[in-house]
Amino acid sequence: MSSTLRTITAANARILSALNPPPKVVVVGGTSGIGQAIALAIAQHCPSASITIIGRNESAANTILPKLGPNSKFLRADVSLLSEVRAVTQKISAVDMLIMSQGVLTIAGRTPTAENIDYKLALHYYGRTLFVQELLPLLRSSPNGGKVLFILDSKNGNPSKVNWNDMALETTYSLASAANHAISFTDLVIQHFASQPENANVTFTHAYPGGVRTTLVDNLPFYLRIPAKGLLAMGVGISPEECAEYMIHGILGTDKGWRCVNEKGENISKKKPAQEEWITKVWEHTSQMISSKH
Ligand SMILES: NC(=O)c1ccc[n+]([C@@H]2O[C@H](COP(=O)([O-])OP(=O)(O)OC[C@H]3O[C@@H](n4cnc5c(N)ncnc54)[C@H](OP(=O)(O)O)[C@@H]3O)[C@@H](O)[C@H]2O)c1
Repeated sequence: MSSTLRTITAANARILSALNPPPKVVVVGGTSGIGQAIALAIAQHCPSASITIIGRNESAANTILPKLGPNSKFLRADVSLLSEVRAVTQKISAVDMLIMSQGVLTIAGRTPTAENIDYKLALHYYGRTLFVQELLPLLRSSPNGGKVLFILDSKNGNPSKVNWNDMALETTYSLASAANHAISFTDLVIQHFASQPENANVTFTHAYPGGVRTTLVDNLPFYLRIPAKGLLAMGVGISPEECAEYMIHGILGTDKGWRCVNEKGENISKKKPAQEEWITKVWEHTSQMISSKH
């Protein structure tokens, strides 16, 4: 373990174990990979934390839950469906830290969900934003200040390449535009949330995890999966456990408002300020998409 990682891990343990009352944590995508490693690390640093993991894989959850302490639970939901996001958030009565790590890696083209939203955009962006929207009342009343972490890609968003005439990519879908819309919109929506005076007690962080050795690549077609697995086997990327400590470091940062953090959980200072107009457009579009018509 590098000395930086050792220092960060010790600081995470010190901060989390001192929280009073112990934190109530929700990890969406906590049944695998980075989300699972974050849930386990928080449980290790703060055994009295209440940790709720959300995903679809019940057998994976049953293996993880005993390691998360007596106050942990699993809520099953397909969070690509806004109706399921709405239903599952109704089952949550308190949250101090909302961590969203749900995701998929596929090269499929536009794949509409039953709600006619592209699957990847629903999972990586609209469903996550709805989680925040539904849980904001609880996050605002968090005694230590609510904290929200979006794990996606805080480094590569490019709002100047957003298709503002087809924001949900219903007619102009491409893999590159789907990726850019999800990550650029995340950059912009955290700035919207942070600008609302009623959210002054909540911090919104968008993180880039870097290359992490998880099973994310398993959905790729074999001609991409095999080389990807080869690279992972050669040790390219970091372990989910290392990534978890960096991501926890990112979410525990003390600044208020919104932040983008890199794969070490450190603030990205070179981020260009967004145009007000982009933030407004993204919020108007998003609030329409996540309204209860779905
Ligand atoms: N690993 C990397 O190198 C890397 C790099 C950059 C960005 N990221 C981003 O980091 C995030 C986490 O990646 P990871 O590597 O930890 O992936 P992972 O190991 O495949 O975990 C993905 C998680 O998302 C959940 N999930 C996927 N689809 C879902 C659905 N429809 N409903 C509910 N839960 C769903 C899975 O739960 P169930 O299986 O239980 O449904 C699982 O817990 C992703 O957003 C990914 O894009 C990862």
